[in-house]
Amino acid sequence: SPVQIPDLTRCQVASASSDRGPPVTLYFNCCLPITGPIVDFSFEKYKPISKHIRRPAHTASDEYIAKYIKAYELMRALPDTDPRSLKVQANLHCSFCNGGYLQAGVTGDIPLQVHFSWLFLPWHRWYLYFHERILGSLIGDPGFSLLYWNWDDQVYGGNQLPQMFTRVNTSLYDEKRRVAVQRPTIVPLAASTPLNLNDSIVINQNLNNLYQAIVTASTATLFMGGELRAGDDLRNSTVMKNRLGGSLENGLHTAVHYYVGDPRTQLLQNMGNFGTASRDPIFYSHHTNVDRLWDVWRFSMPDGERSNHDDPDFLNAEFVFYDENANMVRVTVRDVLEHQKLGVYYEKGGSDDLWISY
Ligand code: C2O
Repeated sequence: SPVQIPDLTRCQVASASSDRGPPVTLYFNCCLPITGPIVDFSFEKYKPISKHIRRPAHTASDEYIAKYIKAYELMRALPDTDPRSLKVQANLHCSFCNGGYLQAGVTGDIPLQVHFSWLFLPWHRWYLYFHERILGSLIGDPGFSLLYWNWDDQVYGGNQLPQMFTRVNTSLYDEKRRVAVQRPTIVPLAASTPLNLNDSIVINQNLNNLYQAIVTASTATLFMGGELRAGDDLRNSTVMKNRLGGSLENGLHTAVHYYVGDPRTQLLQNMGNFGTASRDPIFYSHHTNVDRLWDVWRFSMPDGERSNHDDPDFLNAEFVFYDENANMVRVTVRDVLEHQKLGVYYEKGGSDDLWISY
């Protein structure tokens, strides 16, 4: 059966451990505030007032960047108890990735984990959807749209940290980032790439990695990740073996987290660890590109349209988020598969064609 929303009154301390260097475990209290009864999502209730058109971060105008900075300023300024605060937004990610909640309706204590399986793409798409609506409502602009970090673009500068996130003393800045990937360093798209290579070598490897992870990953299982049903325990290695995350998650997405995370910290905080990654506003821009690439994979491949998983346990999996009014909303995977129905659109990336035809 499909994964259900957890019992939010039963929250546990979340933890993360390092597998490099001396062993260390950090504990996070990412328990979520309970703001009232959980309402069910419906397209009627959440009708988009205007379109959200997501564009590349490195081409944004100064005016738009100022708006973005303002929105995150307001989000950071909310009290930690407010579900719309950056703190709680980050805790949503931490709690469903680092063992904050147990799966509901199953026997035994099995943590809910939204990574490493077919849950990865839909969960993060919903996360961005509500995050964007919250930012828009904070600045009074219902058409506010997230910008995507176009890191796959190897031609027009998308492959560096977008400048808008690097201005010290703004709400988009995070001091816990790797010094060695500051601009104009090209961000490698495989965590095994050394940082001292010639630009043209990194660009070539990036194009190759994009091609491998997106173009050659032709099935839903390869690209989106394997199945995860209620009661599946990812800590169990035999289950894990057949249900690894997809190529977009494991390779490209994880590499960007890894390279932005700060090696001066114990667990590559902030971006390099699930427990802390979404404390950095660049997280949401990174994931907006992950979400866009899911679309590119479906509709822009040379061999024609590709299909998502269609198993009922995928379609009926449910999650819980907060909306812009701090209400708790129950959502299903089924309702997030066509992002246009949610009012979300993507402007084409700078140089998609280059890696698609690599
Ligand atoms: Cu939920 Cu990029 O990780």
